[in-house]
Amino acid sequence: MINYKNVFVVNHPLCCHNLSIIRDKNTTAEVFRNAIRRITYLLFYKASEDLELQECIINTPLETCKCQKINSEKEIIIVPILRAGLIFSDIANEIMPFASVRHIGMYRDEDTLKPVWYYNKIPVELEKPENKIIFILDPMLATGNTAIDAIKLFTAKNVPQKNIRFISLISAPEGLDNVTTNYPDVKIVTASIDKSLNNNGYILPGLGDAGDRIFNTVEN
Ligand code: URA
Repeated sequence: MINYKNVFVVNHPLCCHNLSIIRDKNTTAEVFRNAIRRITYLLFYKASEDLELQECIINTPLETCKCQKINSEKEIIIVPILRAGLIFSDIANEIMPFASVRHIGMYRDEDTLKPVWYYNKIPVELEKPENKIIFILDPMLATGNTAIDAIKLFTAKNVPQKNIRFISLISAPEGLDNVTTNYPDVKIVTASIDKSLNNNGYILPGLGDAGDRIFNTVEN
């Protein structure tokens, strides 16, 4: 039995509306990018809702009051997977300006559907891994192989699974099964769980190749 306890589908009306825009094959690259940016805010509100707070004292112009800020002992790392994950990273960084952004790059071997690494800006060793909060960004969770490699990069450095969040626009059930079987405590936030994968590892109905549509490199 697959455990989906940490999979969250953000089916806010604005997410549904903007998903309809990005699924449409006639949507231009500019409109596609803007619709994803609007969805990104909604995904990140969900993905960040359990960030730890610490109390602080603030002097307003009128008086002193107790407030709360994000716990500064926790280091938040935003990890866009090149290239499509870049579409999430500006907004993730805008709403969490105290985070660092560290890129990783993988492309999918079209025959094996396995990820091939080509870039990695994550330090070899992470100090106090229990204090790192990782947001991995990739719009399409398809086979789950890329997600697993990215998550493994951090669990191998002793970051607890519960500190890792994977953010996607659209997820395939096959990929979710794969990731949640291997990493049941990683939180996955997505705007849709679609029907299935096709034989080439593309999500159905999906939206096609996210990277090509974001960067306007779709070949007709
Ligand atoms: N990557 C994409 O960009 N689209 C898919 O449907 C699957 C993987």
